[in-house]
Amino acid sequence: MVSGNKLYKLQPLLEAAQDSGLQTLISVGGRYSNHLHALAWASREAGLQSVGLVLGYAAQVLTPTLLDCQRWGMELHFVDRQTYQERYTDGFWQPWLSLYPNSMRVNEGGWSAEGIKGSGLWWQGIDPDTDLVVCAVGSGSTLAGLATHAPAKVSVVGVPVFRDADNYQDLQTKMAALSLGSEQYSLWTDFAGPGFGKLSPAQRTFSQQFSLASGIALDPVYTAKVFYALESQLTVDPHLHNRKIAILHTGGLQGCRQ
Ligand SMILES: Cc1ncc(COP(=O)(O)O)c(C=O)c1O
Repeated sequence: MVSGNKLYKLQPLLEAAQDSGLQTLISVGGRYSNHLHALAWASREAGLQSVGLVLGYAAQVLTPTLLDCQRWGMELHFVDRQTYQERYTDGFWQPWLSLYPNSMRVNEGGWSAEGIKGSGLWWQGIDPDTDLVVCAVGSGSTLAGLATHAPAKVSVVGVPVFRDADNYQDLQTKMAALSLGSEQYSLWTDFAGPGFGKLSPAQRTFSQQFSLASGIALDPVYTAKVFYALESQLTVDPHLHNRKIAILHTGGLQGCRQ
């Protein structure tokens, strides 16, 4: 039920909630959110309640993602786009934390000290000979966890899957607050395509051909963009051919259901 990067991020958050005697985890996401999907399942497994604050409207047909969330006991509330834009502020969360006493705020994509620490566990599954690791960037938790715990001389590269007119300044500021800078990670910023959840025609064709050739399915929001990014970089940067590269398939296939 939970694939890719999700348990790495969520397990320490669930443990933190349990250790603090909290019963409910509240988080945010879109109607196809892998994060809410994983949180609903993992919370239930841990004997905790979950609440999902979803960008959308109650009148909309529930997506397969949200139907699963509901089936696993997540209480869903819908918030409009304007309200959702405030999700990084305390003011957004306060009413929900009051409505659900004994609850814990889980930021978008699990961004937290716990989620970042948990993401460092990726290294346990990465071949020690690897010298370059490439992953998708949504909230940045996975990238931050990899970069924080990277062995010496291993480069960590993140591929943002959303466009940012500000050249990913907010992301870099978040990373800098963790003392992570250009020494610890770099970004390949040309591969977000037309926007979050949208592929360019070239990315779509690549994704289809890659899946056919390899038997490995890619999701259009995260992994298709990351694999396309590496393929593109390999064609323009001959130095990459001498490196031992790991690319992380961070999951997300549940979101492909219509
Ligand atoms: C499938 C998938 N890959 C990658 C990411 C990006 O991870 P992060 O939010 O840690 O940057 C997400 C979002 O959580 C995701 O669902």
